[in-house]
Amino acid sequence: MIGMASLMASRMASLMACGMAWMAQIPCAAAQAPLPRLAEAVDLDPDPATVQIALTAAETGDAVYPYSYADGGIGPVIRVPRGAALAVDLDNALPDPTTIHWHGVAVPEAMDGTVWRFDPIAPGETFRYAFPVEQSGTFWYHPHFDTARQVDGGLFGVLIAEDPAAPAADDELVLVFDRAMEGHESPGGAAGHGALMAGWRINGAHAPVSHTARGGTAVRVRLINVSSVGYLDLRWPGIRHIAGDQGFLPALQTPDRIVLGPGDRAEVEWLIGEEGFTVEDHPFSLNGGSTWQAPTPLLEIDVEGPAPAPAGLGWPFTGVEPSEDPPHSDIVYVFAGSDRTGEWFINGEQFPAVTVERVPQGSRPIIEVRNHSPTHHPFHIHGNHFEVLSLDGERPPYAMLEDTVDIPVHGRLRLRLHADNPGGWMTHCHILPHAEDGMMTVIEVDAPERMP
Ligand code: C2O
Ligand code: CU
Repeated sequence: MIGMASLMASRMASLMACGMAWMAQIPCAAAQAPLPRLAEAVDLDPDPATVQIALTAAETGDAVYPYSYADGGIGPVIRVPRGAALAVDLDNALPDPTTIHWHGVAVPEAMDGTVWRFDPIAPGETFRYAFPVEQSGTFWYHPHFDTARQVDGGLFGVLIAEDPAAPAADDELVLVFDRAMEGHESPGGAAGHGALMAGWRINGAHAPVSHTARGGTAVRVRLINVSSVGYLDLRWPGIRHIAGDQGFLPALQTPDRIVLGPGDRAEVEWLIGEEGFTVEDHPFSLNGGSTWQAPTPLLEIDVEGPAPAPAGLGWPFTGVEPSEDPPHSDIVYVFAGSDRTGEWFINGEQFPAVTVERVPQGSRPIIEVRNHSPTHHPFHIHGNHFEVLSLDGERPPYAMLEDTVDIPVHGRLRLRLHADNPGGWMTHCHILPHAEDGMMTVIEVDAPERMP
């Protein structure tokens, strides 16, 4: 619950952010930049069952985002119906090698964009990523080579796999949150603390931004945290959480806050009525608890044509019951390290000198991740998703299918891996400097013919 003190603090923060506008009775939003809409990728293939996209990764000459997939903008939104075949031709016009990793999507191993077994795309070369998209949900794409630098530099975009059973909302907003270091070479080390980082950008625009919604409409909102280090702790009145990393939740959830670590996504619905509201980001310390900072307004939603709020839409919730959390683990990962040394470990090892854990395809191994460090870590597995069984001994209220989950300071995450996609899969912290400083390992899902 939000206490009185923080409510007051947030009012103050909104007033400060709006400058003098409130004194002159000017609506605050007038002073803010409007929320930019992201460009949608153009499907070059007329066949509706095949989506073909051409991307070029190039330098921009811009100081904030020196790289882009889209002529200086954020990578275009790639939209595919579930079950479609996606082909993306990436032309590497950068002076460096690059790759694309399809975060959260069960792609064949050779399409995963990692360079553990495969080579990156050399400068001047083009590579076709081609795979069927069998899931639905909100995913994103980014390089997995020199990852922190290239992602912070502007190489990221959203991949939306549409669920044919989902109702049409009156509007849909895709919100990409980024908080890279501005004017700093590397976002590593102690820079992980929010106080030392630049402010949030939403779809490339500095927050706060404003958006005008029509009264009486239902808006589907996709939230994606592409920041290499920053956590979001988002709050607004009446949160309606409809989908997580891997599509629709079992049932509607109405939490007090949406916390998104780096790499994480959520979908919510906004039922727009008579009054606008503010989406605030609350201070979040990577070392646990909160900080002295006041909440910051990120988005001001104004209403045009106030009308009674509609009822929630009939989302195809999955209704899946949570699995049991058994008293044993098949794999235990211990996350350790510190900002003081800048060295990060999983089971005392640093990528690429790691022990590869092997599990059979089709199995459901229980994995326990113990965070023995003084810092949060967003845990991510490639190519396969998992169900969260418990976090610090607490069972989630519903079957959460995820690919990226935050582990609090000294926390313990227990999960059940759906090991269905064969290959060698990177498993790492999605604070990108941590992954690059060693906090990455590999799980090999063995197809039957490859098992000993
Ligand atoms: Cu978005 Cu290896 O991750
Ligand atoms: Cu980490």
